[in-house]
Amino acid sequence: MSGDNFTMRDLAQAVQGQMAIHGKDAAKILEGIREPVGKILASDLSTIGVMREGNHIDESRYLYYDGEMSITFDHLPEGKDIPPHDHGIWEMLAIYSGKLHHTVYDREDDGSKEGYAKLKVIDDRVLEPGEISMVAPPAEIHSFTAQTDDTWSVTIVGGPYKLDRHYYDPANNSCRIANPKKQKVV
Ligand SMILES: [Fe+2]
Repeated sequence: MSGDNFTMRDLAQAVQGQMAIHGKDAAKILEGIREPVGKILASDLSTIGVMREGNHIDESRYLYYDGEMSITFDHLPEGKDIPPHDHGIWEMLAIYSGKLHHTVYDREDDGSKEGYAKLKVIDDRVLEPGEISMVAPPAEIHSFTAQTDDTWSVTIVGGPYKLDRHYYDPANNSCRIANPKKQKVV
């Protein structure tokens, strides 16, 4: 990497380097990638990327994908509530433009009762450009709603999503398993 020419490859290598050092410790990975993520957020992403099939979101582009780790550029639809869901792997959202109401939950039950889930909000805030949220096991459930029509995020996922991802309905203490092939979400 050099000077202003910080590329997506540089970011991917930075992420992989931190993963090699810190394993699954997402909090430490986040601290290690804040600076390179900031450089990418400061660059022009409007003309790069490859279209990715999305479900809940209008437009998603792959910026990097190696079969495991991915970096995507995602347009989050204004006013659309993306329900609480989990991933089985850490997921980092960095706001490129706009505003995103973002909520992170911890699961209080042990998951032994099918269809039942009790969630507790552990973080609830509006993310603005340059701000980053990391959701990672064991507290890896989040929901979000874009507050502007130009809300874009750079999203990094540390590996494949688990197969039995859940969607949650905190008001009714319920959850259901979603088919990841039909339910691609950020
Ligand atoms: Fe997500």
